[in-house]
Amino acid sequence: MRKVTLVSELREAISDWHLAGKRLAFVPTMGNLHAGHLQLVSEARKQADHVVVSIFVNPTQFGAGEDFETYPRTERKDQEKLETAGADLLFLPSVSEMYAPDAKTTVSVAGLSELHCGASRPGHFNGVATVVCKLFNLVQPDIALFGLKDFQQLAVIRTMVKDLNFPVEIVGVDTVREPSGLAMSSRNGYLSSEEIKAAPKLYESLCVARDAVLAGKQPYADIEIRAILSLQEVGFRPDYFSICRSSDLKKAETEDKDLVILAAAKLGSTRLIDNVYFSR
Ligand code: PAF
Repeated sequence: MRKVTLVSELREAISDWHLAGKRLAFVPTMGNLHAGHLQLVSEARKQADHVVVSIFVNPTQFGAGEDFETYPRTERKDQEKLETAGADLLFLPSVSEMYAPDAKTTVSVAGLSELHCGASRPGHFNGVATVVCKLFNLVQPDIALFGLKDFQQLAVIRTMVKDLNFPVEIVGVDTVREPSGLAMSSRNGYLSSEEIKAAPKLYESLCVARDAVLAGKQPYADIEIRAILSLQEVGFRPDYFSICRSSDLKKAETEDKDLVILAAAKLGSTRLIDNVYFSR
């Protein structure tokens, strides 16, 4: 696996592949790689001739008081994992390589970016859309792969790709879970041993809510309230727990068929998100 840190090196490294008409897959990450990221790389390997991975802890998607400074940076270990997983090229830019100090352009997907996580993390999805747009322009991939754990992020990126006519196929890959059901996340490393025991309750509450929706006996608002109370009982501070249409992430009505239940909750100082999606 070749590693590059400069935009000029990245362009040079991918130009031969583009000229030879090779299919390029791209997996953007913020590093601290776990089995969920490696699943994206392995899926990318199956679907393309070459796999490009980026590791960039993107400052513009972190709000004031969030964990940008302390976000785990584990580059050496990440590189070893990517070698084993079969990535061909790693792009590891610095903040100054990605953002000129006088940059004035941002990308914003209106509406979708203000719901759910966007309501409690204002500007977060603008940061995500801007950096993913820049990375797509640099790598020019044929396909790009993202985890379905970040369901709203994936929806924002799909909308951006459609609206801005990016010739990139977006692939969502299933969430990889611990045996306890806890979704793998770089932020799980922040959890104390006590919090690790309570954390699987987030996914459990989502599954209980999904089963209640499928049973069709309770109003959605009651199912949401029950889930919030069950999370509070084990020490979570829920941010939202919302039964939504998977098409636009707005509140689901009883006649909607394709649904996603989105949840975010804090355990101690760690904010966890998860979801279940299904059809009824
Ligand atoms: O999901 C992530 O790790 C990040 O939000 C992404 C897509 C790499 C953009 O910084």
